[in-house]
Formats: sequence, C-alpha cells, structure tokens
Amino acid sequence: MQPGIKIAASILGANPVRLEEEIKKIEQAGIDLIHIDVMDGHFVPNITMGPFIVEGIRRITNVPLDMHLMIENPERYITPFAAAARAGDLITFHIEAAKKPKEIISFITSAGLKAGVSLNPDTGTETVEDLLDELDMVLVMSVNPGFAGQRFIPKALPKIARLRGIAPEKMDIEVDGGITTETISQAVAHGANVIVAASAIFKATDPCSAIKALRQTAEQAVKKGDTQKAIS
Ligand code: DX5
Ligand code: ZN
Repeated sequence: MQPGIKIAASILGANPVRLEEEIKKIEQAGIDLIHIDVMDGHFVPNITMGPFIVEGIRRITNVPLDMHLMIENPERYITPFAAAARAGDLITFHIEAAKKPKEIISFITSAGLKAGVSLNPDTGTETVEDLLDELDMVLVMSVNPGFAGQRFIPKALPKIARLRGIAPEKMDIEVDGGITTETISQAVAHGANVIVAASAIFKATDPCSAIKALRQTAEQAVKKGDTQKAIS
C-alpha cells in the first residue's frame, strides 16, 4: 500500500511577480507541498530560482517546501538551501548530477531536512535502488526537466511501479511533469503518491478547484487499486 496522496504545487507555473498572492491561493486550497524548481542553466537549459527565493517563500508560508534541484554539483548548494528552508522541508537532487549520492543524502539529513533523489526519463531505476533505505523520497521525472507545460512521458510508469515494489513501505514516490486529471490516475495506479503539478494548477481558471480535482482523481485511483487487489 502506498502512503497517502500529497499534491505539490510547482510555482514554476505561477505568476512570478505575484508569487505571494499565488502561494496564499494554493495554501487556502489545502496544498500539501510547495514544489520549487531550481535550475542552473547547465544541468537543464533554463535558469530559475535559488536560496534567496526559497528564503522569501519560507517567510510567508508554513506549507512544507519541496526543493527540486536540477543543478550540477548539488553537494555545493545543500548548505545554502538548507539554511533558507527549515527542518522537515525536503531537498531532492538528481542522480545524474551526483558523484557521491550517499554523501549528499547525509549532508541533507544532517541539516535536519528530508532527502530525495530524482531520475530523468532516460535513467533506469537501478541507479537509485541501493539508496532507497537512506531516502525519504524518489522523484520519477515524467518529462525531461527544464520547463513546465510539457507532455507526460508514459515510460515513467513502469519505473514508478518497480520502485513502489521494492521501496520501504513508507517511502514517498513523487511524479513530476505533464500531470493532468488524466495522467494522474495512471501515475497513482502505478504507485506514485506525491504528485507535482504546475500548469494543471496555475493555468487553471480556478487553482483551488484544480487542486481539489487532482486530489479527488488521485484518491479514486488509490481506492480502485485497493479494490482490484482485494478481488485478485
Ligand atoms: C520540470 C519541473 C516541473 C514542472 C512541471 O523540469 O521539474 O516541476 O514545473 O510542470 P507541469 O506540471 O506543467 O508539467
Ligand atoms: Zn520539478
């Protein structure tokens, strides 16, 4: 059984000059996590936010932060991101960018934060399987990282299923990219429980109803899966 569903709103889809307003809106809608996409222009072809923005966001909300580092040399930036955030927030780095992943995990956890590792669509699960016991979360990318608004890549699904099959029971499995009320059911049915969405939330006419619709669809997919397991 997978842990409970959590919806993470990626502020990459929000209006950057009205960030506080956008955050208050999703907070009122009961968002579980604020997903912050950190891009360095090297690991991915885009540049976004750094610790300075994280610190500003941390001051205006108590919602846990889910920092997704799409950067090279992630080990160099754990300290500033951890200082900008607070204990219990989460830092995820990419396995493709990590020379010593175990060391990075221990930097994160010894700063009091939760640690996650992410895999690109072309990266196999074997690259992270020996790390699972030390991690709080694995993030399976369902688009090539860099931009919001791309289409969901279905080859993420068997990877999610494989990881759910071998991960410790309480481990979160996050899916990121191209999530809509259609693709969310498949991701959850394969074992994802933390769902990132930028466009589906912030490009909707009403972000609050969009969050509710995503949550409802995800919870239905969990129930359907439980019923199927009970029958078989
Ligand atoms: C892509 C980012 C995602 C992105 C998702 O590199 O990691 O978090 O914001 O955007 P949507 O939900 O629009 O695919
Ligand atoms: Zn992301």
